[in-house]
Amino acid sequence: MASHANQARALSFDTVATQYAAARPDYPPALFDAVEELAGRPLAGADVLDCGAGTGIATRLLRERGAHVVALEPGAGMAAELRAAEREIPLVRGEGNRLPFAADTFDMITYAQAWHWTDPAQSLPEALRVLRPHGALALWWNQADVRVPWVAAEDARLAPFTRNYPATVAELFAPFSVHVCTREIPWSRRITVEEHIRNLGTHSHFAVMDPIERAELLDTNHAALARLFPDGNLDEPYRCGLTVVRSVTTHTSTTRS
Ligand SMILES: C[S@@+](CC[C@H](N)C(=O)[O-])C[C@H]1O[C@@H](n2cnc3c(N)ncnc32)[C@H](O)[C@@H]1O
Repeated sequence: MASHANQARALSFDTVATQYAAARPDYPPALFDAVEELAGRPLAGADVLDCGAGTGIATRLLRERGAHVVALEPGAGMAAELRAAEREIPLVRGEGNRLPFAADTFDMITYAQAWHWTDPAQSLPEALRVLRPHGALALWWNQADVRVPWVAAEDARLAPFTRNYPATVAELFAPFSVHVCTREIPWSRRITVEEHIRNLGTHSHFAVMDPIERAELLDTNHAALARLFPDGNLDEPYRCGLTVVRSVTTHTSTTRS
């Protein structure tokens, strides 16, 4: 993590953990199909480390696909939510830059909305160390689909205060001897305007904001959406961006597809 401010944001989710568990979107089945395809193996029966597991949204879905999943989470508040909801999933407190596991332990390592809080110069070698040969590192982010007009308008309203997830992470891996594949999975969920506002409030830029400023911004946005969706419901559209990284053992150049 690059700076003190960034580190504070990385752990800001602890302050909104209960709201996070209730309001954040999950991930579509097509994402896990794509993970299996690009990783070249099924999740069923795989030993998977879910890094930055948070309240366990992705962890739970990985387990439902049949993975033997271990959750890794640095934040006390997020870990407490996960522990309360998923008592039987092994949970380890730690972070991606220094994985507290022996070499060759997992078939797959996943980061759902979490890789950008690590330093790839540390977290990628750590992942490659802890993965078994032919293992895969899968990273994904639900990104608001700004091709949809109301999302673009909201983005413009909130842009000075927010920072989007990386559009692509493939170039981060150029210095490493790895094979990188990417995929995008569009999907949406139908929720109330209030749920959408609660979801926004769990994003780190809002979590670290002055509470009065945060309330004003979210109220303004809420009012704009209430005018647009008078029945109180909306389709929250996402482009789920997936990157799967695998070691290259036979040659040293980075390849992409
Ligand atoms: C946006 S949340 C994602 C949570 C969960 N994976 C999900 O899909 O909802 C980001 C998570 O990354 C965690 N995190 C922050 N810094 C981290 C690091 N260096 N290594 C691993 N996880 C980290 C935070 O505590 C937080 O739980």
